[in-house]
Formats: sequence, structure tokens, C-alpha cells
Amino acid sequence: MESVVDKKYRSGHPVIDFQHRLLIIMITKLKSSLKAGRSMEVLEEAAQFFDCFIVEHFNDEEELQRESDYPNYEVHKQQHTEMREDFLRIKAKIDKRGANHILAVESLTLISEWMNKHFKEMDKEFIDHLKEYMKRHQKKNTPNEYK
Ligand SMILES: [Fe+2]
Ligand SMILES: [Fe+2]
Repeated sequence: MESVVDKKYRSGHPVIDFQHRLLIIMITKLKSSLKAGRSMEVLEEAAQFFDCFIVEHFNDEEELQRESDYPNYEVHKQQHTEMREDFLRIKAKIDKRGANHILAVESLTLISEWMNKHFKEMDKEFIDHLKEYMKRHQKKNTPNEYK
């Protein structure tokens, strides 16, 4: 996940780049909390992080994908949907069995491994598309005297 700071993973879109950066920071923080044995804190924060941030990030990405006519929109959106469903399954287990260390590991592993794979493949593809879209869009909207 450290690769997000790598230039090739930056789209130049301030919101998307900021969100990806924050995702990495948060996952790193959760990993160190888990290492330190703070399982309950990890579960609580992972659930909040998911509800308040990851879902929002997916929505923002999908909105930009529609706006920019991203050709792989359906596949990308499907991966977001699957991630949401997987996380909801873990949440249901927490509700049923109560919070415990195993579920903390499970939820963090899901977020971290899924995001890492999705980010390097699907998001990278979208980032490249977005870069091109912004280049074209900026050109179109720049008055002639500034070109
Ligand atoms: Fe993303
Ligand atoms: Fe994505």
C-alpha cells in the first residue's frame, strides 16, 4: 500500500489523491493498533472508517467515473459493491458473536488486502483514465490567451 505515494498512482485529482493517501494512513494505523493488541479499538475504528470514509470514497470515485465516461465503470463499481457486501458480512458476525480478536483480524485483513489489490489494479486503471480526462478537460476550458 505504500505505493500510493508513488507518482504513478497519483491522478492529479485532489479529492481522489487525498482519499487514497488517507486510506493508507488509516490502514497503517489500524495495523499498528492490532499489533499492540487493541482488537476492540481496531474493530470499532474499522467499522467507522468503513461507514464514514470508504463508502464515501467509492461513491466519489463512481461519480467521477460516470462524469468522465470511464469505460470500465460497471466492473469497477461491481468490485466496490462486493467489498461493501464482504464488510457487511463481517459486521453481521460482530453483531451475532460480539467483538473479538479474530473478527478484528478478519476485518482489517479484508480492508487491507482488498484495497491493496483493488487499488493496484482497478484504481490504477481509473487513475490513468482520469489523468487523461483532466488533461483534455483543462485544455477545453482554458481560454485561448492562456494556452
Ligand atoms: Fe480508490
Ligand atoms: Fe475503486
